[in-house]
Amino acid sequence: MSLFLRAANGEDTERAPIWMMRQAGRYLPEYRDMKEKWSFWDLCTHPELATEVTLQPLRRYALDAAIVFSDIMTPLSSMGLDIDFRPGPVIANPVRSMADAMALRVPDAEEITPFVHDAIRMLRKELKVPLIGFGGAPLTLATYTVEGKGSKDYALFRQFLWSQPEAAEALLDRITEVTVRYLRLQVAAGAQAVQVFDSWAGIHDEAAYRRFGLPYAQRVFDGLADLNVPRIYIAVASGHLMKAISELHCEVISLDWRSPLTAARAALPGKVLQGNLDPAVLLGTPEVIEREAARVLRDGLGGAHIFNLGHGIMKETPPDHAARLIDFVTQFDRHRAG
Ligand code: CP3
Repeated sequence: MSLFLRAANGEDTERAPIWMMRQAGRYLPEYRDMKEKWSFWDLCTHPELATEVTLQPLRRYALDAAIVFSDIMTPLSSMGLDIDFRPGPVIANPVRSMADAMALRVPDAEEITPFVHDAIRMLRKELKVPLIGFGGAPLTLATYTVEGKGSKDYALFRQFLWSQPEAAEALLDRITEVTVRYLRLQVAAGAQAVQVFDSWAGIHDEAAYRRFGLPYAQRVFDGLADLNVPRIYIAVASGHLMKAISELHCEVISLDWRSPLTAARAALPGKVLQGNLDPAVLLGTPEVIEREAARVLRDGLGGAHIFNLGHGIMKETPPDHAARLIDFVTQFDRHRAG
């Protein structure tokens, strides 16, 4: 079995497998070249283009896994939401009421995003490393669906949760059902692990997360249980939610850079840890990159660890700095270091 899947299944491997969130994207000149000709949505919706973009970082670097090129927002278009990327997602018809929530479609799996599933099938023919599928967690997808765009503290969404909780639950319910169908078909198409991104979970307190976040993320993970693929969860800036997160039915928890892996190891018994180098470190000198990566690698000893960044790679990252990181991590012998 591949190093990535062994670690994701709980093995304390001899070296930490490495992949990077947003490993395909704007820091790569070959991606920027594609963007001269195609929009982000074009890249997502044409399986041969999505396949090409997914493979770009793998041609440059000895990464241990690929992640299919898409976005957490793509399945929402099949529900009747009108989404544009500028470059962050913008929704022309946000959900603001029970009537809006009830008007959303819950399409059959095959109708959701046929292009993602086709890209996964094409990628599996090309790849020598495992392919990760992904989706957004219901709470994070609902955040965009209500706000209509990114925001600093998502006040409109937080007001919606407490002023119209039944509408919020109807919305979360529909998004959850679509997400389960969407991810199940990704696995059927060939995805060998799935990551659920709860990027905005951290804006809530534990009570709100336990009511509007955890139960829906749990339904997503329970809906994948019989497929026997490792399930990965990431909630950004969520150190205050660690107790609740430890209850999730998933194999791997990805940490951002604010939560030390040593503390996470104790707080998340039985979980594989993924992360958690601050992506900003990649803007530092080679010495800084190696020193900080070594710290993360040492913090990750004492159990299964998949090396990753704490959040997506920044578009300002020099590609040779990413190369330096990957070389360093792939040469670090965890058994000798421990
Ligand atoms: O990791 C990968 O290589 C797979 C591709 C991927 C993208 N988005 C491509 C993308 C993944 C896994 C995502 C997930 C995603 N999308 C998340 C969860 C992860 C996170 O960052 O918290 C979120 C919140 C989104 C929503 C989204 N899409 C935002 C906020 C943006 C703007 C990003 C920015 O940096 O400005 C997007 C657009 C987007 N998604 C881009 C890419 C490569 C940039 C589009 C472009 O090239 O113009």
